[in-house]
Amino acid sequence: MAKAGAGFRHETERLILRDWREEDWAEFWRVTNTPAVMRWLGGVLNGAGMEGARQRLASYRHDHGHTFWALERREDGAILGFCGLKRCNQRGGPIGMMEVGWRLREDAWGQGYAREAASAALDLAFERFAADEVIALTVQGNTSSWGLMIRLGMHRREDLDFDNDEFDPESGTIIVYSITEAQWERARG
Ligand SMILES: CC(C)(COP(=O)(O)OP(=O)(O)OC[C@H]1O[C@@H](n2cnc3c(N)ncnc32)[C@H](O)[C@@H]1OP(=O)(O)O)[C@@H](O)C(=O)NCCC(=O)NCCS
Repeated sequence: MAKAGAGFRHETERLILRDWREEDWAEFWRVTNTPAVMRWLGGVLNGAGMEGARQRLASYRHDHGHTFWALERREDGAILGFCGLKRCNQRGGPIGMMEVGWRLREDAWGQGYAREAASAALDLAFERFAADEVIALTVQGNTSSWGLMIRLGMHRREDLDFDNDEFDPESGTIIVYSITEAQWERARG
């Protein structure tokens, strides 16, 4: 298990999922706090929104030993965004369930980085953080996000959908996918 202070770092073929460093943040916001990236996340954040998000990610790390980790490209050290695990804390949602999430800079989309990072996060959820099932949340309009969920072998869980307008005020609904450990073992081959 990752211990507080031990320093989390996990490498994949092209990526590193790791604890955040102070110097990551300005670059992370520069490349991800854009209209395209934030399209289905309630829009571009102001200063208070950025600080709140940063504090939440730190609190997940502190409370659970995992968070939406900084995502670094091994080749050049570029910060591509984040990917990782938290416990669902969305108003109205299945609070406490293990949740995988991702947010990548737009110039890194479409190269399989999100799938590579999310696959690592699912491995970690089951093998290191003792999850039985992992959910992912999005909105109907966010085709690339639920497309990735399906690509990972996740299944639609309409029974877990909930009302919440933080991401998409127009629909007001957050849709849920999930995968169990047995399903992930089959999907990853
Ligand atoms: C969602 C996101 C992380 C996907 O990143 P990506 O780099 O394009 O994803 P990948 O290249 O790893 O693609 C993995 C799979 O996702 C699916 N996918 C990606 N974009 C898709 C799209 N536009 N439509 C349908 N499926 C898509 C595909 O199945 C793809 O697999 P394939 O290439 O084998 O077909 C990225 O679009 C993003 O950061 N969006 C903004 C932030 C965000 O909305 N985060 C999610 C909040 S719920």
